[in-house]
Amino acid sequence: MIPQETIQQIFETAIIEEVVGDFVSLKKRGVNYLGNCPFHNEKTPSFTVSPAKGIYKCFGCGKGGNSVNFIMDHEQLTYPEALKYLADKYNIEVEEEELSPEQIQKQSSRESLYIVHNFAKEYFVEQLLHTDEGKSVGLSYFKKRGFTQETIEKFQLGYNPEKWDLFTQEALKQGYQLDYLEKAGLTKTKGDKHFDFFRGRVMFPIHNLTGKVIGFGGRTLVTDKKVAKYFNSPENEIYNKSKVLYGLYYAKKSIVQEDVCFLVEGYTDVISLAQTGIENVVASSGTSLTTDQIRLIKRYTPNITILYDGDFAGIKASFRGIDMILKEEMNVRVVLFPEGEDPDSYAKKLNKEELDAFIAENTKDFIKFKADLLLADAQNDPIKKADIVNDIITTISLINNEVKRSLYIAECAQIFEISEKALYNELNKILRKNFQKENKSTSEDFQGAPPSQYEIEQEKPKEDKTCEHQEKDIIRLLLNYGSEPIELTIINDDGKEEVVSVTAAEYIIHELSADDISFENETFQYIYSEYLSAFEKEEMLSSKVFFQSDNQKILDLCISLTESPYMLSENWREYHQIYVTTEDKRLKFAIEHAVLALKAKKVDLYIMELQEKLKEAIDEDELNDVLAEQIQYITIKKTIADKLNRVVLK
Ligand code: CTP
Ligand code: MN
Repeated sequence: MIPQETIQQIFETAIIEEVVGDFVSLKKRGVNYLGNCPFHNEKTPSFTVSPAKGIYKCFGCGKGGNSVNFIMDHEQLTYPEALKYLADKYNIEVEEEELSPEQIQKQSSRESLYIVHNFAKEYFVEQLLHTDEGKSVGLSYFKKRGFTQETIEKFQLGYNPEKWDLFTQEALKQGYQLDYLEKAGLTKTKGDKHFDFFRGRVMFPIHNLTGKVIGFGGRTLVTDKKVAKYFNSPENEIYNKSKVLYGLYYAKKSIVQEDVCFLVEGYTDVISLAQTGIENVVASSGTSLTTDQIRLIKRYTPNITILYDGDFAGIKASFRGIDMILKEEMNVRVVLFPEGEDPDSYAKKLNKEELDAFIAENTKDFIKFKADLLLADAQNDPIKKADIVNDIITTISLINNEVKRSLYIAECAQIFEISEKALYNELNKILRKNFQKENKSTSEDFQGAPPSQYEIEQEKPKEDKTCEHQEKDIIRLLLNYGSEPIELTIINDDGKEEVVSVTAAEYIIHELSADDISFENETFQYIYSEYLSAFEKEEMLSSKVFFQSDNQKILDLCISLTESPYMLSENWREYHQIYVTTEDKRLKFAIEHAVLALKAKKVDLYIMELQEKLKEAIDEDELNDVLAEQIQYITIKKTIADKLNRVVLK
């Protein structure tokens, strides 16, 4: 259990734009920040972060919450885990009680995996830098490859000794569980023997976006072709290869600054380029490029430049990458390295300026890149040339932007000396085919589907038998303007008119308690009662406390009510439509209306209830009672309606 004061401290210290900023590139827009939503794939940014309220909200997919929710959602952590994550980030000490063995057992598998990986990373670093074998074998290898001490430390490179089970024994001795060592792929078991998986390999830790180690690549130091050059960690709860890019943790800041991300193949390419001073580099190590990885980059920049070896495999991989990147509506360029060189080897031959110049001179947009390569191969064979044109047009058809497509068509026409019209014909053929394919699949999807619920609902519009809209409106006003002053004219004890200033919350509470009104909706009632108890203690409640709630329902409600000013009840629209945009300036008017509208609706509903009672009345006495009550309420209803009409904007 984390003590309540610590939770409070975490909430007060966590700065939402920093917490989110670790995962999303945010740009300032007025008082808020705006970025691409990390929870869904989007074209235009609709993910908003409000520093004042300490919350985020995506208007595309609807996700929203505070710092803790963001971490829970993004990192798939539980509530206490997310609190600990933030405590860690802001160096807040969490004075938890000593954990019992069962509690340790219960600690989530994810957290245990992080802990095991962190231990392993530190162990491998220690071995590399401070043991004889590590220094003479591992460190000397890295030095030979030109990695500086600083680079080795920055990327937390390590070494796993060439012993059967040295690492595993040490880990077990220190109390790490075999289960997690195995899950992390660090320890293998044969029969009742446990041994190290990465024996005699130099270790490249793989980090997630917050810098936690989630896996390793281990490179062998022998040149035997039969030995796999790299061993890689298996996937588990914290490591999903298709959603991780090697080096992104170190590169993300520079990617935003440079507004381009360089994509390379291997660990050593990332490290060597970074050492040379080009830091906006990531690698899709261990897998071929995936759509999830591309979307990860898209959070930081729409521009990707592929830096691949000039060999056949490299070129083939880049073709596939180009199409995938274009489909994600990003811009893709390619740099091919000279025969026999890769970014790693080339970065060691050149200094930063030379490398920058080389990249600048050799960056080609994908059309030019494909055309140059394919044309060199086709020579002057017209049939081959036609195939190439088709190939390139197919790639262009993946771009979901007409302007961009037409620019590429123009470029293509120039390169191949073919009329734009002919190219458009080809393009349209492909687009039509794709369109038919898509439509066919959707119409098949719907075959045999039940009639849509929408139609059924359309036939019988629901009668609104609750005060939900009106109640919501009051809560909205409380949350947004509760502490704002409004002026009231009252008749004082001497019978004279007097102007007093009260807060909006005080006025609402005064009005509602005079008629003993409570809220039907549980969440609304909870929020209202919080205001009420603060009022009774003569304190002023800030709506901020609700934004820190660990109750998702309350949080969602508060966000939707404070972020979208137009979520108004039908009554509200009828009465105030024209004033909506400036309602904070007309606060008193808005509140009087909202309170009266709630009262009117309550009375309406009660009259309807009496109507039912009339039908069920069993004798004349009861009938008369109900009728009398009904008349009474109809009078009240009329009074309220009059008041509503008389509330005018002064
Ligand atoms: N790779 C792998 N398993 C292998 C070979 C390669 O997982 N047996 C992955 C590694 O992530 C590697 C990347 O593919 O980083 C690129 O391979 P390669 O160019 O062969 O490795 P480099 O990282 O360039 O390593 P080195 O420079 O030491 O050869
Ligand atoms: Mn290499």
